[in-house]
Amino acid sequence: MRDLRTLGHSGLLVSPLTLGTMTMANPGWGSDEKESGRILDRFLQAGGNAIDTADVYADGATEELLGRLISDRGIRDAVVIATKYGFGGGGGLVTGGAGRATMVRALEGSLRRLATDRIDLYWMHTWDGLTPASEVVQGMADLIAAGKVSHWGLSNTPAWFAAQAITLARAHGLPTPIALQLEYSLVARDIEREHVPAARELGMGVVPWSPLAGGFLTGKYRRDDPAAAAGGRLTKDNPFSDSKFTDHNWAVLDALAEVAEGVGRPAAEVATAWVLDRPAVDTVLVGARTLDQLNTSLAAAEHPLPSDARERLDAASAQDLGYPYDIFTPRMAANICGGGTPVHRLR
Ligand SMILES: NC(=O)c1ccc[n+]([C@@H]2O[C@H](COP(=O)([O-])OP(=O)(O)OC[C@H]3O[C@@H](n4cnc5c(N)ncnc54)[C@H](OP(=O)(O)O)[C@@H]3O)[C@@H](O)[C@H]2O)c1
Repeated sequence: MRDLRTLGHSGLLVSPLTLGTMTMANPGWGSDEKESGRILDRFLQAGGNAIDTADVYADGATEELLGRLISDRGIRDAVVIATKYGFGGGGGLVTGGAGRATMVRALEGSLRRLATDRIDLYWMHTWDGLTPASEVVQGMADLIAAGKVSHWGLSNTPAWFAAQAITLARAHGLPTPIALQLEYSLVARDIEREHVPAARELGMGVVPWSPLAGGFLTGKYRRDDPAAAAGGRLTKDNPFSDSKFTDHNWAVLDALAEVAEGVGRPAAEVATAWVLDRPAVDTVLVGARTLDQLNTSLAAAEHPLPSDARERLDAASAQDLGYPYDIFTPRMAANICGGGTPVHRLR
């Protein structure tokens, strides 16, 4: 794997690929303890150091399994453990949300299940549409001051909320969010409108989730019969199964298949390599149900795409940025800036 890099403007060093664990211990579309251990060992052996999980995965069973795997191997200090809070359970109690009470209670549960005394990177899993940025900033600052969390980040949040959080933290001398964890793939480029420019401007790393769109970009699903990939995650009941089979996405998949054939690599590897080298991306969350799947994703870090392949994929998967971004074309930039096409030296 390529060298470790800092995550956003921080001293946290992560590998270019982070091992996603949403599949581990998941009874419906995941892997058991033995396969999860093999996947973890292979990831570490390939030079990976960062592991992403969440309190909500398999109702806590994923964190418990990960805690066992890490303790059994005695590798706690050699890995970056990231977990998340905010998606609560049901049962009539307020067990979720982004607020401070949930943040503190959830962290205690994660520490216990992961059998550790600190979380290296703690994520707000999703904004709840209610909690003010100031509450999240101060809550994270207090957890860091208590030594229970080292760094923090924001997942699934509007870009304005992230911009407000990092600005507040800076203004008050508090620890800033260092990264944004967001869906990003050849068929999910919405974050290029607001989140990627905000991350670059403000010094946060982008950490894409679902780089293969839950398996869609592996090429195993067929337009005439999406269920053909029998047993594939998108044929099963889960939060990722219903939205990928659109005309636009099938066209992107056709282009991906052509590019993959051209470079002689599997579609899954090419799709992951495309995300890995996008601007602002520091580390990509790879998801694997089997060891073979992990090996394909790991190869993406060894085989960067040639520029013509990248340009073909950029064009085939482009999304309309819409207003006001359609104003900022090179032609308009020349009008605004008095001739020529000025370049920002830091971007
Ligand atoms: N912050 C968030 O809200 C959020 C949301 C989602 C995920 N995440 C994180 O991101 C990580 C990665 O997300 P993801 O699992 O959705 O990633 P993904 O790479 O888009 O999907 C992974 C799935 O694709 C299939 N697959 C992978 N490689 C394959 C291959 N070579 N050939 C055929 N099928 C293959 C497998 O499913 P099947 O074999 O079962 O079809 C696998 O479980 C998660 O583990 C989690 O840590 C975060």
